[in-house]
Amino acid sequence: MGYDIADLFAQHERERFAMHSRHLNEQMVRVLKAVGYDIGFCRGEGQYLYDREGTRYLDLLSGFGVFAIGRNHPTLREVLKSVLDSELPNLVQMDVSTLAGILAERLLAHVPYLDKVFFANSGSEAVEAAIKFARAATGRPGIIYCEHAFHGLSYGALSLNGDDLFRNGFEPLLPGCVRIPFNDLVGLETALHSRTVAAFIVEPIQGKGVNMPVSDYLKSAADLCRRHGTLFVADEVQTGLGRTGRFLAVEHWNVEPDMVLLAKTLSGGHVPVAAVLARKRIFDKVFDRMERAVVHGSTFGSNDLAMAAGIATLDVLASERLIENAERAGEHLLQSLAAMIPRYEFLREVRGRGLMIGIEFGPPRSLKLKASWHALETSREGLFCQLITMPLFKDHKILSQVASHTSHTIKLLPALVISEGDCESVVNAFNSVIADSERVPGAIWSLGKTLVGHAMHASA
Ligand SMILES: Cc1ncc(COP(=O)(O)O)c(C=O)c1O
Repeated sequence: MGYDIADLFAQHERERFAMHSRHLNEQMVRVLKAVGYDIGFCRGEGQYLYDREGTRYLDLLSGFGVFAIGRNHPTLREVLKSVLDSELPNLVQMDVSTLAGILAERLLAHVPYLDKVFFANSGSEAVEAAIKFARAATGRPGIIYCEHAFHGLSYGALSLNGDDLFRNGFEPLLPGCVRIPFNDLVGLETALHSRTVAAFIVEPIQGKGVNMPVSDYLKSAADLCRRHGTLFVADEVQTGLGRTGRFLAVEHWNVEPDMVLLAKTLSGGHVPVAAVLARKRIFDKVFDRMERAVVHGSTFGSNDLAMAAGIATLDVLASERLIENAERAGEHLLQSLAAMIPRYEFLREVRGRGLMIGIEFGPPRSLKLKASWHALETSREGLFCQLITMPLFKDHKILSQVASHTSHTIKLLPALVISEGDCESVVNAFNSVIADSERVPGAIWSLGKTLVGHAMHASA
């Protein structure tokens, strides 16, 4: 046919920002230009991205966590090609998928206290399913969620979003959703008291901010839920499948949820897929008779490419011992970065588990630095972190992100294939950039002035 997608990409990739400004999200292009991320990547392999000139960048976002096994993993590519070459029947609809059966069995082998799997196409869809399943299983309307929670942006998931920036302008949201502080067991018990709550949906480690649960929080929360007839649902869309050094993050705290939500990593980064793992009694209430066999589902759920991506990803996680690597590399990064805290005034805390790490900054003690911090932060809260992420990108070729808007935390979410050498580069780069940030006046603070200018222009 002579139709080569690589050629098409090469012909048009220099126009990507112009095309997006014209036809897609113009504000996203403005953001990328403002922070100097508008270089245009041309290739991805493993934990690295490459620009037009072939310069290598270490990617600490991994596509918001989807490329846990690295970009374009050879096993995944082979498996996906083999699906296309096999002429499988796929999405017959009046049949059931063999590959879905295999993937469900393999997922449940890791979570033996759960019995059933529902496949969806995104993390948000998994959350939507969990809300519906919880209501159907309990006959109750309420859902409890946490401040700073992020469960996706479709309406049900948005109704559980703990940050007003995402909610504003989209109300009214789903009724019956109650927000409580994360790590607050008294607040949870009070909210459960009415016995009208179907589920408490919580991220074991909150993605927005990398907020850690205190040691007994999740276990006690699960116990409280059980006592009040409420389902305990772990949203492991980001933390699950090895990210924190365990198959599920809840394993760190010996918790057995009633439902577990997975997505991101399961896709191998290439074919969107999500899974709701649940107890049988929940499924028995949702799909309770033949005429309700299709009461919840989605046309593309369980499609062969997605199922094959999930099967291949589980295989790579095991054969390359990536969960062990996440634990080892994560511990090394956490310790090395935390060791810098006494040296730098701006550096407050390093926290996380495995390869989900938050590096928090805060106002300094000395007068000279304090004045610079306040000048920047008054123009827009959270701007300081850009003074770190921008030189990391430009000078050290490291792609990183701020943990949420107005946040003082930089989040690391690298591929689980990250090497010891990569970790050393990350530590050295942070060391150098943070040291520079404490030199006033200096190059970093000249950048700060430019950012203040952008912030004033953006709000004008
Ligand atoms: C914990 C959590 N839940 C749900 C979602 C939504 O997933 P998706 O973007 O695939 O809809 C996300 C996405 O970042 C997430 O981090």
